[in-house]
Amino acid sequence: MTNESASIMTTTAATDAEELVFPPDFIWGSATSAFQVEGAPLADGKAPSIWDVFCRQEGTIADGSNGDIACDHLNRFEDDVALIRDLGLGAYRFSISWPRVVPGGRGPVNQPGLDFYDRLVDALLAAGIRPFPTLYHWDLPQVLQEGGGWVARSTAEAFADYAEAVVARLGDRIDTWTTLNEPFVVANHGYVTGEHAPGHTSMDEGMAASHHLNLAHGLAGVRIRSLAPSARLAIVLNFTPIEPATESPEDREAAHHQHNLENRWYSDPIGGLGYPDDTADHHRWDRAEVLDGDLGLISAPIDLLGVNYYTRSFVSADDSFELPEGTPVNTMGWEIHPPSLGSLLRDLDDRYPFPRYLITENGAPMPDQTRIDGRIEDDDRLAYIRDHLAQVHGAIADGVPIEGYLVWSLFDNFEWAWGYGPRFGIVEVDYETQQRIPKKSAEWFSQVARRGRFATPS
Ligand code: FCB
Repeated sequence: MTNESASIMTTTAATDAEELVFPPDFIWGSATSAFQVEGAPLADGKAPSIWDVFCRQEGTIADGSNGDIACDHLNRFEDDVALIRDLGLGAYRFSISWPRVVPGGRGPVNQPGLDFYDRLVDALLAAGIRPFPTLYHWDLPQVLQEGGGWVARSTAEAFADYAEAVVARLGDRIDTWTTLNEPFVVANHGYVTGEHAPGHTSMDEGMAASHHLNLAHGLAGVRIRSLAPSARLAIVLNFTPIEPATESPEDREAAHHQHNLENRWYSDPIGGLGYPDDTADHHRWDRAEVLDGDLGLISAPIDLLGVNYYTRSFVSADDSFELPEGTPVNTMGWEIHPPSLGSLLRDLDDRYPFPRYLITENGAPMPDQTRIDGRIEDDDRLAYIRDHLAQVHGAIADGVPIEGYLVWSLFDNFEWAWGYGPRFGIVEVDYETQQRIPKKSAEWFSQVARRGRFATPS
C-alpha cells in the first residue's frame, strides 16, 4: 500500500513496519553553538562574553564548569568537519561568536576572530556540507552587558553592525542567514529567572530585552537584505507547547499567558501580528521601548523559520504541577512527547505567513550508560529522534513546508547552567581526551540521511 502526498510517501510492508520516505531534497544535518563547543575564550583577540563571566560566578553552573575548553572545536574543526562528512550529513548549523569577531561589542572588527569562521565555512563547503550560521547564540560581549545588555536599545543597533561585518566577509558563501537563536530564552532565562547569563531577575528588564531582541533581528535583517540580496533571512525560535495542568480557570489563564510569552512573543510580531496585548497588560508592560517604526522593521518578511522543539509543558497557577510517575522523560526531566511536535508544526503553518520551516534543534540528553565494543548504545536517543522525525514526516504529508531536520547536537557539549552533565550528542565526546566516538544514534541517523527514509518499528 502506498500513500502519496506531495513528494513524500509512506509504504506499508507485509510486516506492518512502515517505511517513511522523505522528499529527495530534504536537509539532514546537525547543530552546535559557539560557546558550547569552541573553547579558546581568549584566542586571537577574543574578549569575554557574558557566559565567560557568568560561569565564574559562584553557584551558576551545576558542575562548576565553564566553556574554556568545551569540545576544543576551535582547534579541531577540520577533524570535526571530516566527521560530519563521514556521517553523510549535508548540513551543519553553528553560531558565530560576537566577542570573537567584535571584541569591543561595537567598533573595530577583529579579523583573526573572523578568520576562524572563514576557514570553517570553506572547510564545510569543501566537504560538501551546507553551512547554516546563526549570528547570535547567547554569547553577548561582556562589554555590552556593562552598558545594559539587551535591556539597552543600543545593543540591538550594535548587533546590526556586527551582523553586517560578518555578512560582508562570509556572504559570498552563505545562502541562509539566521539572526538570533531562541530570543525567548535570552530574555526569560537571562533577565527574568536569572538561570542564564547575565543572571538578572526582573520582569521589566525581561520585557525590554525581549523587544530589543526582536528589534535586533529586524535591524540586522535590513543589513543582510542589502548586503546579500539573494540570501535567505531566518530566525530560530523555540516552541514549547503549553497545556493547563487542570481545567480550572486559574490554570487555564496561567497557561494562556505562558503560551503567549513562550510561543508567541517573537513569532507574532515577526509574523506581523504584533505583541500579544493581553499578556503585555497582564505583566504591566507599558511598551515604552516600542518606538514608531519598530514593529514594521520586526515584521519584514523572513524566508525561513527555524523551529527548536524538545518538549511540551504543563502550567498551573500555583506552580505545583509535577509530571505523573512513569511519564517518559530525558535526563533533564523534560517530558518526551513526539506528537506535540507534529501539532506544533501544523499550528505554526496555520497561524503564520512564513514560507518555509526548518527543524533547527531537536534531540535529547540520555543516560548513555550502555557501551558495546566501545560504542554507546543509545537506543533511547535513537527512538527519540526517530519518533520526532515521524512527526515531521506527518506534518510534511499534511502540507507543512518543512525543508529539513538538524539534530541537537552533533556533540556532547556544554549545556549552559547544567554544565557538562547532560549529554545531547549523537557523537560522544570524552572530555579527558577530546576523542569523538559516534553513538549508535549517529550511525542510525547517518544511514537515514543517506537513504532519505527509515522504517518505523513494527
Ligand atoms: C536550546 C539551545 C541549545 C541547547 C538546547 C538543549 O535551548 O538553543 O543551545 O542548549 O537547548
